[in-house]
Amino acid sequence: MNKAIELALFLHLLAVAVWVGGMVFAHFCLRPAIADLSPQLRLPLWESVFGRFFNWVAAAVLVILLTGGFLLMQFGGGHATWPLHAMAGIGIVMMLIFGHIRFAVFPRIRRAVQAQKWPDGAQAVGTIRRLVLVNIVLGVVTIGVAVLSRGF
Ligand code: HEM
Repeated sequence: MNKAIELALFLHLLAVAVWVGGMVFAHFCLRPAIADLSPQLRLPLWESVFGRFFNWVAAAVLVILLTGGFLLMQFGGGHATWPLHAMAGIGIVMMLIFGHIRFAVFPRIRRAVQAQKWPDGAQAVGTIRRLVLVNIVLGVVTIGVAVLSRGF
C-alpha cells in the first residue's frame, strides 16, 4: 500500500471513530446518566453538548468524504467492489441524517431553551435520540460492510 493510501485510511478511520464513538457515548452513557435531571437543567446541557459535538461531527464528515472519495478512486472508482459502493451509499445517508439533525432539529432545541419552552425542547431531544440511534446502527453496518470489502 502506498503512503498516501495509508494516510487516507488512517484519517478515514480516525474520523469514523470520533463520529460513531461520540454517538455511542451520547446515547448509551450520557443520555441515561442525565435522564432524571429536570428539563430546566437537562435541555441547556444537551444544547451545550450537541453544540460542541456537532462541530466535531461536521469535521469528521468532511474528512470521511475527502478521504473516502480519494480511497474510492484508488480502489477502482466506478469499478470498485460492491461493499465499497455500499459503504459510500450508507455513509452518505448517515451524512444526510446528520445534516437534518444539525440544521433542522438542533435549532429547535436552541429556540426552546431560549424561550424556556421545555416540552418543545424535550420533543426535539427525543427526535435527535431516535435519529442518532439510526445512525449508530447504520455506522456499525457500514463498518461491517467496509471490513467485508477485504474479502472481495
Ligand atoms: C462517502 C462515504 C465513504 C466512502 C466513499 C468510503 C470509501 C472507503 C474506501 C475506498 C475504503 C478503503 C477500503 C479498503 O481499504 O479496502 C474505506 C475504508 C473504510 N471505511 Fe469508508 N467510505 C465512506 C464512509 C464510511 C463510513 C460512514 C464508515 C463508518 C461509519 C466507513 C468505514 C470504513 C472502514 C471501517 C474502513 C476500513 C476497511 C478496511 O480497510 O478493512 N466509511 N472507505
